[in-house]
Formats: sequence, structure tokens, C-alpha cells
Amino acid sequence: MRRTMKITVISGSHRDGSQSDRVAQYIANDLTKLGVEASVISLAKNPLPLWDEGVWSDDPKWTSIWGPISARLKESDGFVVVSPEWSGMVPAGLKNFFLLCGSREVGHKPAMIVSVSSGIGGSYPVVELRQSSYKNTRLVYIPDHVIVRNVESMLNGSSPADSHDEELRKRMHYSLEILIEYAKALCAVRESGKINLKEFPYGM
Ligand SMILES: Cc1cc2nc3c(=O)[nH]c(=O)nc-3n(C[C@H](O)[C@H](O)[C@H](O)COP(=O)(O)O)c2cc1C
Repeated sequence: MRRTMKITVISGSHRDGSQSDRVAQYIANDLTKLGVEASVISLAKNPLPLWDEGVWSDDPKWTSIWGPISARLKESDGFVVVSPEWSGMVPAGLKNFFLLCGSREVGHKPAMIVSVSSGIGGSYPVVELRQSSYKNTRLVYIPDHVIVRNVESMLNGSSPADSHDEELRKRMHYSLEILIEYAKALCAVRESGKINLKEFPYGM
């Protein structure tokens, strides 16, 4: 990879001032320390309408709403998907985001899942994303993920509040380093000339 690596952090909470947004910003800062160009796309306040058929017919509404996001995704080498646990699920807006995403934007690029809970939840979004958001997008979830439990007391400020916070910060940093290595490695897959979206546009 000749240029600076770009990683986009997708913050999947619809809530304004969400903990997911705060965690996404922490991750973007950590990625910057690792020499990556990092930015955050936040779904706070539902900036994206629900999917409709206009997406497939280049409806100008979608070109103006989705076009700039699509361009940012296309130029990214990898992603971090931050999802809160809402009623044991991924928020509907994040599932909508994955309906809008295509393999030309995110296909065969690595993504790391970070789930967020104010309590001791956070497992369900990991399972849901691994199960259902990659088939057509061809997004490649890396094996490492991070669950941020008791989020309000984690990742605040520049130094850890306690040993749990310290361990979480170490795991986050380590997992981001692994994501970066996958981003380097998967370039070779995309440049292999083997990807055939014309004949195989959708996964099985
Ligand atoms: C609609 C809704 C449902 C929620 N359901 C759960 C849940 O099932 N499990 C859980 O651990 N936390 C749940 N929470 C609390 C979130 O973990 C908490 O709001 C946390 O800050 C992450 O969400 P945020 O990024 O929107 O702030 C829920 C929050 C909302 C708004």
C-alpha cells in the first residue's frame, strides 16, 4: 500500500450524544496514533432514510444522500463497526446502512466489530453482525472483536480510570493493530483480478 491507510469508523447508534459516538471517536484517535487516516461516520439522528427501490435506479435523492458516504467507504481500506446493544439487537439504522452498502464500497475489506453496553451486555450485536451483514457486502469481519461493557466508565480521558479500563484500552489497541495488518493483507485479494462481481454480485 503506497498511500496512507484510511480506516472509517461507523458509529451505529441513532442517539445524539451516544456512547457509541464517544467510543468511535476514541477509536479514531487511537488509529491516528497508529499512523492511520481515521474518520467517523455517525448514524446519530438518522441521517439516512430507510432503503427504497430508488437506490437501485440512481434516484437523485439517493445520489445526494448516499453518494458522499459511498465515496468515503470506497476510498477506505478497512472499517470499525461500533454498535450499541439495543434490546439485544443491532440498531435498525445500522442494518439499514448495510442494506445501502454494496460490495463495490466495502467488499473484501476488513472490519472490526466493537459493541457497546451500559451494563454487562454487548454480545448480541457481535453475533448479529457476524451472522447477517456480510453476505452481499462481502465485508470481512476479523476474528478479534471488542465488547465495551459499563461503557460510561470506560475510555474517558487520556489515562485509564482503573485496571478494567486499562485492560480494555490495551485490547482495543491490539485489535486495531491486527485490523491494520488485515487491511494490508486484503489489498492483495482485491488486486488479484479474481473478484467477479458481474457473475457473482450476491453471496449465497
Ligand atoms: C432502545 C434501547 C435499548 C437498549 N437495550 C439494551 C440491551 O438490550 N442491552 C444492553 O446491554 N443495553 C441496552 N441499552 C443500553 C445501551 O447499552 C446504552 O444506551 C449504551 O450507552 C449504548 O448505547 P448508545 O451508543 O446509544 O449510547 C439500550 C438502550 C436503548 C436506547
